[in-house]
Order: sequence, then structure tokens, then C-alpha cells
Amino acid sequence: MTELTKELVLKALEVVQDPDLHKNIVELDFIKNLAVCGGTVKFDLELTTPACPVKDLLKSQAHDAVAALPGAETVTVNLTAKVKSSLPVGNEIGGDVRNVIAVTSGKGGVGKSTTAVNLAVALAESGAKVGILDADVYGPNVPVMMGCKGSPMRVPGSDKIMPLEAHGVKTMSVGFMVEDGQAIMWRGPMLHRALEQFLKDVEWGELDYLVVDMPPGTGDAQISLAQLVPLTGAVVVTTPQEVSLTDVRRAMGMAEQVKCPVLGVVENMTGDIFGHGGGEQIATTFNVNLLGSIPLEAVARVAGDSGIPVVLSHPESETGKAFFEIAGKVAAAVATRQATALPTLEV
Ligand SMILES: Nc1ncnc2c1ncn2[C@@H]1O[C@H](COP(=O)(O)OP(=O)(O)OP(=O)(O)O)[C@@H](O)[C@H]1O
Ligand SMILES: [Mg+2]
Repeated sequence: MTELTKELVLKALEVVQDPDLHKNIVELDFIKNLAVCGGTVKFDLELTTPACPVKDLLKSQAHDAVAALPGAETVTVNLTAKVKSSLPVGNEIGGDVRNVIAVTSGKGGVGKSTTAVNLAVALAESGAKVGILDADVYGPNVPVMMGCKGSPMRVPGSDKIMPLEAHGVKTMSVGFMVEDGQAIMWRGPMLHRALEQFLKDVEWGELDYLVVDMPPGTGDAQISLAQLVPLTGAVVVTTPQEVSLTDVRRAMGMAEQVKCPVLGVVENMTGDIFGHGGGEQIATTFNVNLLGSIPLEAVARVAGDSGIPVVLSHPESETGKAFFEIAGKVAAAVATRQATALPTLEV
């Protein structure tokens, strides 16, 4: 009988393809700590994100490919993940932040904050290290939606500020610094400085993804953010009305101007009132990913008001499931972009 070797195991694993990266898992260097002892085979399958939408499929395919080898008796596949950084080495963001994802839209009230909060929490639920930055300094909603109150503390012996933590997500908002209901007026330079502080003076620690909830529109905050940090990508939120096409065009034009890749479009509040199908039309018109369509559901609004995002309060609801799917697609889009566009930035 042929003896099992590492070489034979790796050869067998070459049949397993990553559907997003279009390469096999051996070529992609996903196999780590391979150990072969008699008929016992163990290895780690190190994916590019813990939120990988096809992780269970890849795991079972890898298992089955090895288990089919003559002489294989026990095959143990251990799923792990290592999120790569798309930010340049030596960037000035506080901590070790690997990817910055801006949630944006051409106009207000389309569900940016709802999407940002649920995206952040869904990514954290998958095992990723996640932060959320509320860049809507005009009307910060993240504290209420995350159910997060309090005054951030200074890191002892340093000038850095500690973010608050809610639902496993490090959270920072100007809402923590002002009284409830207090009007906030910002001039461009002040706004720039505030965002700069949120990025550079906050001790974010190790983060796979920093999700940024943007204010509506295409103004100062968008320009400042893009100047302060090379964004990994933007998630554009829209509603299915006719008019959103113009809004999306505006948001995408903005992203292009500040050289921020668009990871995809989220169509929110689909259903009878707002219509449906607009997201697909947008995806085709602009040649971008449709990350998902979220129905208009009361639980989503109630969850937002109660401080427990719908992915936690009602993970099985249509909105809950849609947000989990979107989180997986966003994580996959980040990984794909890194694999195809930024091969030299691997850290
Ligand atoms: N799919 C949904 N189903 C039900 N309610 C929703 C849904 N998406 C958002 N909402 C509700 O709609 C309102 C606006 O959403 P949200 O605050 O997320 O929008 P926004 O784009 O961030 O707004 P702004 O431009 O003011 O920052 C909120 O009350 C939110 O709870
Ligand atoms: Mg908002």
C-alpha cells in the first residue's frame, strides 16, 4: 500500500478551488501546519477572512479530498483565518488596523447607519476583530444603534483614547462627547481635525475591519476621510426608488474621485412601498457587485432603536439573514481585491 505523505496530501488538495479567488487552496497557501502520521492527517485551512461565505464548503471539500486518498483514516481540518492589511505599513491610524470600509450613500436616510452597525456586528460574530467609527459628526446614530453609552477614557500614561466596546465591536462616536440632543455645527477644518483624532488618537488595537458610518452626501467628511486614510473600499447603500440611481451615481463618482474602490451596493428597504429590482439594475448599470437586498422590516427599526442590532436580536429574520450575507460578501470582496489588486501589500 502507498504510504501517505505530505506531498500526496497537498496534491490531493489542489482540486479544491476558492470560488472568489479562482485559485486552488494549495496555490493560495491556505494549508498550514500539515501533519501526516500513518493514516492520520491534520492541517489548518487558513482563509482570508473568518466571515468567508463558503468556509464550510471549503472545509468539507478539503476534508473529502484527503479522506479519499488510499491509506487515509482520520482527517482533521481546522478552520482558521488571517485577514490581510490593505493599509500601507507605517500608516498613522492608532493601533493595527488592517482594513477601513466606509459605508456611504448619495443621500440621507437610506440606512447607512443600520447597514454599518449590522455589518460590523455580523463581521465580529464571525470571529473577526472589528471596530466602528461614527463619522456622522452632524447626527451621530451609532451610540443608540449599538446600545453604547459613556465617556471614552484615556489610555493610562498616553495621549490615546480608548474606544468603548459594544457587542464585541470597538466603538467611537462624537456622540460620546456631546450631550444628547445638543446641536453640533462643524466647519470643514474642525470636521477634518475631529476625524483625524478619531483615526489617529484612538487606540483601536488590532482590527481586521474598521467600519466607518459616513454622514449623508458627498461633502467634507467624505473628502477628509479619504485624505486621512487610504480606504480599502466603500459600501454604497441605496433604496430601490427611481431617484436612487442618481444618488448612487453621485456616491460612486465621489468614490472614484477620492480613489476609493467600491466594494458593492446594498439595496435597502426593498418591498412593496419602495419597489424592488433597483439594486440589480444599479449593479448592471455601474458594473458593481450587488451585495444584497434588505427588506423593509419592523424588527430592523426596533432593533436600531433598542441598541441591539437585528443580526443579534433577530438573526433569523429576513433582514438579519440579509445582513449576515452582506457581511460575508463584503469580507470576500475585500479579500478578492487584495488578492488581485494589491499583491505587494501583504503584511
Ligand atoms: N431595512 C429596514 N427596515 C426597517 N427600518 C429600517 C431599515 N433600514 C433602516 N431602517 C430605519 O430607517 C431609519 C433610517 O435609517 P438609518 O439611520 O440607518 O439611515 P442613514 O442613511 O444612516 O440616515 P442618515 O443619512 O440620517 O445618517 C432608521 O430609523 C432605521 O431604523
Ligand atoms: Mg446615519
